Amino acid sequence: MSRFVIITAVRDFESRVRHAIAGVLPGGLQTLPPEAVLLAPEALLQQVAGGQPDVLIFGPGVRPEDGVALAAIFDIQYPEISLVLAAPPTPELMLSAMRAGIRDVISAEIDLAELQALLQRACAASERRRRNNGQQIPSDQARGRVIAVMSPKGGVGKTTVATNLAIGLGKIDPMSVVILDLDLQFGDVATGLTLEPAHSITEAVHGAAAQDSMVLKAFLTVHPAGIYALCAPRSPAESDYITAEHVTRLINQLATEFRYVIVDTAPGLGEHCLATLELATDGVWICGMDVPSVRGLHKCFSVLSELKLLPPNRHTVLNFADRKAGLSVADVEATLGVPVDVVVPRSRSLPFSTNRGIPVLQGTTKDPAYRGLQKLVDRFNPSLVAEAQRKVHRRAMIA
Ligand SMILES: Nc1ncnc2c1ncn2[C@@H]1O[C@H](COP(=O)(O)OP(=O)(O)OP(=O)(O)O)[C@@H](O)[C@H]1O
Ligand SMILES: [Mg+2]
Repeated sequence: MSRFVIITAVRDFESRVRHAIAGVLPGGLQTLPPEAVLLAPEALLQQVAGGQPDVLIFGPGVRPEDGVALAAIFDIQYPEISLVLAAPPTPELMLSAMRAGIRDVISAEIDLAELQALLQRACAASERRRRNNGQQIPSDQARGRVIAVMSPKGGVGKTTVATNLAIGLGKIDPMSVVILDLDLQFGDVATGLTLEPAHSITEAVHGAAAQDSMVLKAFLTVHPAGIYALCAPRSPAESDYITAEHVTRLINQLATEFRYVIVDTAPGLGEHCLATLELATDGVWICGMDVPSVRGLHKCFSVLSELKLLPPNRHTVLNFADRKAGLSVADVEATLGVPVDVVVPRSRSLPFSTNRGIPVLQGTTKDPAYRGLQKLVDRFNPSLVAEAQRKVHRRAMIA
């Protein structure tokens, strides 16, 4: 039975949570007054009827810093309880909340459907942690989207797109995004995001983290923009010890904990890529504006279609788009046999951002490359998707 505890004195928020649970999630809701946040975890849990809850919500009326302080202790003593904080999500608060193991920071005005989905995931995570074996595949309902960013060719912008997508989705849904660098030999997600990871995928797939999603979370690196990253190994040699089975288990674990798992990959269709595609809900296919790149992607689609490994949702990105390249968007679409969904023009802002380690979507300079990347993010924004689905596909233009 899922059960919920909320600490708040704000009746409107309490009744919103009650509505979100009613008829959808099993188990009841108990409300404690704001002073409860000053109790030690054991004392607080003694006030909860019927044992440990699955989800503990620090509601409005609780000082965010008190919520974060208590969360940090809960995270160590009762990691199976999912923690949610309702407070204005400033970057500083997001960062300290992530470090304290809070799963979601939400606005007190959160819409009902969103709140429902969030609580569903929080329950699923709690249940999974209680099972504590890290290997069972969670139900589809509780799984996040697994977005594979791929291309058969190197240097076409996979990492640029993957890091910008992570930052862009992190703005919509802070703390719900993890970027996984599966370019195991020469991955550069850490460089692209100016991260200095204390741990890499190597530690995440071996030992305790592979058995327990809570431990795994401790191996992730927090980015100040409110996203998590699991970076590539420090040395290319380590990649020999990471198998396709490791990748499958890792992605399954991450998809239970995060709403978006963005996977940056190495060029081509190696075993790690294929393992990712088996689980991916979305393929973001990057194509450069040159004949080898377009032909390569066409071949890649044919092979994957035969292997029945094409993820259900396809997003084709034409990168380095340039009117003077001797190819048009229509030519690219004709060769690929699928529409181009997003065009990212060749732009000086991108190498500049790569060199600074700050994705363009983190900044405010809205050049055509920014707009192209933002358009890709919008394709994953639940509130914009319904509207976009009503629109007919129009051929993308090069700015
Ligand atoms: N639209 C663009 N205009 C100009 N430069 C770009 C564009 N997209 C990416 N770049 C630059 O191209 C370089 C390669 O990009 P990136 O590392 O993202 O490619 P990749 O596909 O991940 O490469 P690899 O296959 O080596 O992993 C980077 O310096 C990046 O800034
Ligand atoms: Mg790359």
